Amino acid sequence: MMTQRVTIESSEAASSAAAMITWQAAHRARAEAALDRFLATPSSAEEASCLWEAMRYATLSGGKRWRALLVYAAAELCGADVALADAPAAAVELLHAYSLVHDDLPCMDDDAVRRGQPACHVAFGEALALLTGDALQAQAFLVLAQSRMPDPAAACALLAKAVGACGMVGGQARDLSGKAVTMEALEAMHRKKTGALIEAAVMLGAACGTSAGHMANAALMRYAAAVGLAFQVADDVLDVEGSTPDLGKTAGKDIAQNKATYVALLGLQNAKDKMHTLCEEAQQALELFGTAAWPLKSLAAQAVTRSR
Ligand code: IPE
Ligand code: IPE
Ligand code: MG
Ligand code: MG
Ligand code: MG
Repeated sequence: MMTQRVTIESSEAASSAAAMITWQAAHRARAEAALDRFLATPSSAEEASCLWEAMRYATLSGGKRWRALLVYAAAELCGADVALADAPAAAVELLHAYSLVHDDLPCMDDDAVRRGQPACHVAFGEALALLTGDALQAQAFLVLAQSRMPDPAAACALLAKAVGACGMVGGQARDLSGKAVTMEALEAMHRKKTGALIEAAVMLGAACGTSAGHMANAALMRYAAAVGLAFQVADDVLDVEGSTPDLGKTAGKDIAQNKATYVALLGLQNAKDKMHTLCEEAQQALELFGTAAWPLKSLAAQAVTRSR
């Protein structure tokens, strides 16, 4: 009996892992196609073609598209037509690509490698990389404003709040100031610099649908807050445990630059425990959705088990 149950459980696990791989591959392909479309070089842009080349280089260059997958998963969970989620999925990835280009600049983290290739400023020069980030950010808002989402203006406001001075950019400023030396300050910084955009990805997905009532929205917010923080704690851990070829960015930079991270403040094992606790918290927040939430649950697990 026991053997039979183990076999059934492991075959269920194998089929749900296969379903997840298929779901992610299909939605990742949608995100890539949408990004390619939204970054089509306009025919009038010959004089600035280097800029468009740099924008495409920085964006269509092998990111995991984890944030885009969050948008799709939340949209489908809330009953939206998947095509409606292409614009917010692309907008979130454009915004994210901009943040990476600026994050790597010599005046910020000074990293020469991103996504396994020369960072944008190494390939195109510092000034053009700065402008590339600016243009990607503008493109993200244009894509949202012109989307078929139920309320494009509300979507733009949601993203703007998440990535501005009270969100991602505020968190980046705090990171550079080196002032996050207490646990409380570190958590606040991580929630802003990384968590805020991840939260926006989930809520933009939800905003594509019509079926997210108050309870569902609150549950998605709890999920997004936990998974957003977990993602950056995992990034801190990977900086210590990963290798440059695996990560596609320079490993060991946080210690070299004396950055405030979960590993620096808590130690490696406590940081790992924290990210797993956050992952469970995120998954538990989705209980009211039942089995329909499996894509979001598997994305939470991926945030903390990934190797890059
Ligand atoms: C890296 O994000 C920057 C952080 C906020 C930690 P990702 O690990 O999602 O990078 P890509 O998009 O897959 O390259
Ligand atoms: C990145 O944090 C946060 C943003 C880009 C907003 P990190 O500086 O730790 O990201 P990586 O490690 O360079 O990808
Ligand atoms: Mg940084
Ligand atoms: Mg960095
Ligand atoms: Mg990092």
